[in-house]
Amino acid sequence: MMSAMASRDFPLSDLPEISTARSAPADATFVGVAVGPSGAVPRAVGLARRDLERQGFTGKVGQVLVVPSRGRAVAAVGVGDRPDAGDLRDAAAACVRAAGRHSEVALDLVAAGSRSTADAQAVTEGAVLAAYRYPGLGEPGDRGRVSRVVIVGEGRGVDTGVRRGVATARAAVLARDLANTPPTYLNAPDIADLAAELGEQYGFGVEVFGPRELAEMGCGGLLGVNRGSVVEPRLVKLTWQPRTPRGHVALVGKGVMYDSGGISLKPSDAFHVVMKMDMSGAAAVLSTMTALSDLRCRTAVTGWLVCTDNMPSGSAMKLGDVLTMRNGRTVEVHNTDAEGRLILADGLSLAVEEAPDAVIDIATLTGAAMAALGTDIAAVLGTDDALVERLRGAADATGEPVWQMPLERGRYRRLLDSNVADMRNIGGPYAGCITAAIFLSEFVGDTPWAHLDIAGPMKVDADESWRSRGATGFGTRLLIDTVTNW
Ligand code: BES
Ligand code: MN
Ligand code: ZN
Repeated sequence: MMSAMASRDFPLSDLPEISTARSAPADATFVGVAVGPSGAVPRAVGLARRDLERQGFTGKVGQVLVVPSRGRAVAAVGVGDRPDAGDLRDAAAACVRAAGRHSEVALDLVAAGSRSTADAQAVTEGAVLAAYRYPGLGEPGDRGRVSRVVIVGEGRGVDTGVRRGVATARAAVLARDLANTPPTYLNAPDIADLAAELGEQYGFGVEVFGPRELAEMGCGGLLGVNRGSVVEPRLVKLTWQPRTPRGHVALVGKGVMYDSGGISLKPSDAFHVVMKMDMSGAAAVLSTMTALSDLRCRTAVTGWLVCTDNMPSGSAMKLGDVLTMRNGRTVEVHNTDAEGRLILADGLSLAVEEAPDAVIDIATLTGAAMAALGTDIAAVLGTDDALVERLRGAADATGEPVWQMPLERGRYRRLLDSNVADMRNIGGPYAGCITAAIFLSEFVGDTPWAHLDIAGPMKVDADESWRSRGATGFGTRLLIDTVTNW
């Protein structure tokens, strides 16, 4: 067990200040008010339906019409017909983006009623996540961003929802910061040090394993991928242990701090630059752990961050090399750029050894998942339908969409056959997302398991609803929702 506390030399974001009030405070210079496509327009907007329509405002989700009035701007914020939490998250995000340089914003979007907790949570998430901008490593300067948000609403439900929304959005912001951080500022030892700090702060246990321990543990996948790097690998085990847990879930995150491809070197195109985000899975797992105490999570959660660079060098693993993984399986390396599955093999093996009720891994694993589902939707595959169903439910609740792909081991396992080892690390030219998942399934035994391939949604190129340019933090809120509602 290694331990280290280091001072960070990369920035992490501050959240805007969030509070609740029964009405928009006088010092808010920008007030967003929910307006649907029909029915009465709230008086605060100051315009009649007919005037709004003349300006092209129909009340659709995402529309914002700013109405300058004395001393402050009031905005009609489209929420659509009978808005659900997802609509309100999008509406809040649109409103915060429209607020531009106003620093004090009030959001009057939550209707009274039974859904007010989930609605207030969604509004809070939309506001915080849309206000996000990666602090970056340049001059701090004037961020010109919303710095105070008041959620207007009444009752305990609203306060609870806002409190939950702050916890989930704060976690997602952390995941974004980590994925946006340049790779040399955040390497495997750095993220392990940060995990130790966060564990102290948020009340979860942290154990860190370095190269010597990993060799003793037989983690041939992680060590094999790390061989080309001058920076040591780290395996980080995180534990959240409530007094009387209902269930135990293990989360395993791919932490490739930088993926050059290794000997199977990637080209120097724009894709290559975002490979600093190849640790987005590990970032989602670590960030999830930071939300559990605020949310009083009653489920025991074990997080595994499997962290290394994937680099080419004279010591790098070679094509044709055979690695022996933690569970004893041997793997012939046919492409060193299929490194995520090699390190996850060890993480999954260790996770199932503790016999949790379920294991979920999250990884920026394949370009094939992005080719199939685009940049908005993650692929989910698994050995347990009920678990996949849970993840789909969480995806609906959090607005982080997933789509199930077939695991089809019967048909496609043979694509991984090797002449010299139990399997090779790549399949054929097709079904790359599926063959990657089939590879992982060799390491989970009988434990119910699901795999999230987030290569597509790990980043966005332009601001869109609650997703701000850069790393999205995708999967963080999905995992939080899954484990807290277990
Ligand atoms: N980290 C990449 C996958 C990726 C691609 C993530 C694009 C985000 C955006 C992964 O390690 C990788 O290189 N996968 C290869 C696998 C192939 C060699 C079988 C891929 O998808 O091309
Ligand atoms: Mn790769
Ligand atoms: Zn990778």
